[in-house]
Amino acid sequence: MKKYLILLVLVIGGITVMAQDTNSKTEINHKVEQLVKQLTLEEKVSLCSGRDDWSTQPIERLDIPWIWLSDGPHGLRRAPATNKAGYGDQLPAVCFPTASALAATWDLDLISKVGQALGEEAQALDVNVLLGPGVNIKRSVLGGRNFEYFSEDPVLSGEMGAAYINGVQSRGVGTSLKHYVANNVETMRMFMNSDVDDRTLHEIYLTPFEIAVKKAQPWTVMACYNRVQGEYGTQNPYLLTEILKNDWGFEGIVVSDWFAIVDRVKALKAGLHLEMPHVSGVNDEIVLEALKNGNLDEAVLDNLISEILTVVLKAKSLEKEDAKQNVEEHHALARKVSAEAATLLKNDKDVLPLTKEKYKNVAIIGEFASSPRYQGNGSSEVKPTQLDNALDIIKDEYGKGIKITYAQGYNLKDDNDFSLIEEATQAAANADIALVFAGLPLHYESEGIDRKHIDMPEAHNKLIEEISKVQENTTVVLTNGSAVAMPWVDQVPAILETWLGGQAGAGGTADVIFGKVNPSGKLAETFPVRLEDTPAFFNFPGEQGNVLYGERIFVGYRFYDERNIKPLFPFGHGMSYTQFEYSDMNVSSKEITDKDVLDVTIKVKNTGSVKGKEIVQIYVSDPECTLQRPEKELKKFAKVELAPGEEKEVTFQLSSRDFSYYDAKRDMWIAESGQFVILAAASSRDIRKSESIILNSTQQIPMMVDEYTFVKELWENEETRELLKEYFPNWIKGWTPEGKLLDEANIPGFFLEHPIIKFPYITNNEITHQEVKELINKCKGMTYTPEVVKLKDVENVSF
Ligand code: BGC
Repeated sequence: MKKYLILLVLVIGGITVMAQDTNSKTEINHKVEQLVKQLTLEEKVSLCSGRDDWSTQPIERLDIPWIWLSDGPHGLRRAPATNKAGYGDQLPAVCFPTASALAATWDLDLISKVGQALGEEAQALDVNVLLGPGVNIKRSVLGGRNFEYFSEDPVLSGEMGAAYINGVQSRGVGTSLKHYVANNVETMRMFMNSDVDDRTLHEIYLTPFEIAVKKAQPWTVMACYNRVQGEYGTQNPYLLTEILKNDWGFEGIVVSDWFAIVDRVKALKAGLHLEMPHVSGVNDEIVLEALKNGNLDEAVLDNLISEILTVVLKAKSLEKEDAKQNVEEHHALARKVSAEAATLLKNDKDVLPLTKEKYKNVAIIGEFASSPRYQGNGSSEVKPTQLDNALDIIKDEYGKGIKITYAQGYNLKDDNDFSLIEEATQAAANADIALVFAGLPLHYESEGIDRKHIDMPEAHNKLIEEISKVQENTTVVLTNGSAVAMPWVDQVPAILETWLGGQAGAGGTADVIFGKVNPSGKLAETFPVRLEDTPAFFNFPGEQGNVLYGERIFVGYRFYDERNIKPLFPFGHGMSYTQFEYSDMNVSSKEITDKDVLDVTIKVKNTGSVKGKEIVQIYVSDPECTLQRPEKELKKFAKVELAPGEEKEVTFQLSSRDFSYYDAKRDMWIAESGQFVILAAASSRDIRKSESIILNSTQQIPMMVDEYTFVKELWENEETRELLKEYFPNWIKGWTPEGKLLDEANIPGFFLEHPIIKFPYITNNEITHQEVKELINKCKGMTYTPEVVKLKDVENVSF
């Protein structure tokens, strides 16, 4: 009875909250409507740009307040005042691990908690909108902002983004999903044209934004600096209105990246609401002029400012006067996240964890151990509330009963100083284990600058090589925001990737090294052997202001799979101090339609002796398809915690979109009939189980026949084949063996490969231009459903 009472109270409570939400929404809408009516034209125009660096324009006459927008994404970069840039003099805030590390956790609940903490910090620091997260795809390993982005995979990036946004916004603070879209290169970043085809744009680059918008409704989206298919992201009606608003149902406002506006009027017309920061009065004058001369409709402006005011009033209504920063709690969370992100790439002979039983004498080597690299360069730079270092943490928290020797190993001020290697090698030789902290110094990874290569400083590489010669338990602890080459990979038994772990990263790393936390991070990006092996090698950073996305949909692991290139460490890889066994994979049905939801279950068991977490990855493979498709694509994932001997069943749901490709000609997602293989994997190169299903599509696909449609397309479709036959003149009989029907005839390949516009020429005008037109007209509006395939007709594909 009590249980039902509680339930009732919860339900009523829920209804009350919903009712309050709707009430305040209606109230705000009503207020906005009134305000818009009272604004002068000049005031309306002024609302479409910032007041200064970080705030929106207030209108005191009408009590219209301003709100504060501030960088992120992995902590608050809160300037001392809204009119100060805030580089160096920003207020202290908790610096969480950067996005590469967050993604390596593959833990959506945890990322949501990070979001909540960031929301609380924002409330405490009077910030209304946090400028993040960035869900751009890591297209090239050289991308300067890779540390600030999640992954090379659209689903993982989008899910991470959604979890982050939901977390922040649950605290009454908005987010800015950035940088929309195809912002994957820093070179010439304010002008570069992302020359990307439509299919790739949808399948790879738009998808993370789509997931985040649909699942989390960020209050704002930040339009990118670059051009996309020839038009700036800030003035691209296809991206800002057609896709973002109309197709995805985005309800918030579009903000420009800082100084990204090129043509103010075009931007407003395309659906960009807010120009940031305030540049000068010049742009306002341009807009006023456009309104006066009819180049811009006032109704368009009214619409935009209504939406801006809705966000402003909502933000103000959710401000919390007494919000606290909870620095200690957030620092502890940051430590936990960095431990969850730590990715054990290699651990031969179980060198790790480091226990007192195994090792009494530990050499800690590398300046990063005392002077940590914990975030990237640029607008995301947070001023941490404290900064832990591994040397002190290890000594203080784990040092009892072991001897610790420290050697600097290299000089962070000079990449080519090899003078410290000998002393470090001595220390390593005298110890039972050497922990070598190495990676990329700050100036290697920065907003605004792409990397030129994927090498670590020579002094770091040489140090590792020399130490590995004298110490068999050399363990490399890497600090970097994106993949690096490891020429010494075969010489060392253990490698722990710790990313850019934020202010508490040292603690998280120590917890993993000493086995307090069992590592469970997995790579959200492929680590290549060489730069030459990477997908964008020939097309990065582009030239003369244009970057060709030549690898198309084959980004990240999709490329390595297709080219059969063995990466250094594959996407999804990460080890544990325990082992996991996969069994009993099941699908709810062996045959589905595109309208069904398919349940996929798999059991995972911890077969080792310590507690651990496994990240189960579900990939979908479409062995046969009209269009070229990647060998497999990540669609779902889950992180499961298991005690030794414990087994859990994990369930995933796949629906039509998970089987679809984007047909750029028809501008739609198509789930084609046929066989699909569902793979349950521990990494993209470690497939544990697979199940094959048949999808019978009921989708009506438009034929889209025009004069450039190929005969083949018409011939392969039953209905259009019949039509085609009507137009087949006598001469075609010459191609068919005597007495055979057309259907049985072996129509010569080259004929099938002609567009129908060529009929008059190749038939000596027996089919006229007029008849071609007629044929096209008859096909107008025709749709087809792909053939239904029976399970027994296809063979199982094995992986
Ligand atoms: C960056 C954005 C950032 C903005 C404000 C721009 O240069 O691209 O990510 O939010 O500056 O600092």
